[in-house]
Amino acid sequence: MEQTEVIKPQTLDDLIKILHQIFESDTINIKEVQNIMESYESNPQEWSKFAKFDQYRYTRNLVDKGNGKFNLMILCWGEGHGSSIHDHTDSHCFMKILQGQLKETLFEWPDGKNHGDMVQKSQRILLENQCAYINDSMGLHRVENVSHTEVAASLHLYSPPFQQCQTFDQRTGHKNTVKMTFWSQFGERTPFEAKLSQENN
Ligand SMILES: [Fe+2]
Repeated sequence: MEQTEVIKPQTLDDLIKILHQIFESDTINIKEVQNIMESYESNPQEWSKFAKFDQYRYTRNLVDKGNGKFNLMILCWGEGHGSSIHDHTDSHCFMKILQGQLKETLFEWPDGKNHGDMVQKSQRILLENQCAYINDSMGLHRVENVSHTEVAASLHLYSPPFQQCQTFDQRTGHKNTVKMTFWSQFGERTPFEAKLSQENN
């Protein structure tokens, strides 16, 4: 009889260790990664050193480089902060809620013929500890903290890692390539000069 082994990470460090093991393999099981990320019970004491908020927009804070196989980061969403509609550069994207709630809106890829509003596929509210998954074959999404009173934090795993993606104008479907930067890395604020040179590359 086949037994399903349930690995429950006890801490964030434990989760990172397990993710390293899983991603050593060249083939990954999406459901397995999703389950493991979901079964980690968010403990702010373990991740608050990475969670650096900005007043004006959400921040990306690098936690672990996953031996080059993945990037693990914490996104910090102030009240009302949201992303643009974007793709995931042919990577896997796992997104686990660490604190608060996030609204995820899924869109179809623009077909290039229609120049009007982008087609919305679905919308849902992600709750604390839930782990969502998306890749380019499923469409595009926008992520928002719609709360005006609560901040939110989410743990994202991207594999393989990527440094740029495409953003889309909801009204026209027109796209732009954007370079992504980290607000902090391993708990340290990214130096201004480093950020500047990254953005001007
Ligand atoms: Fe995303």
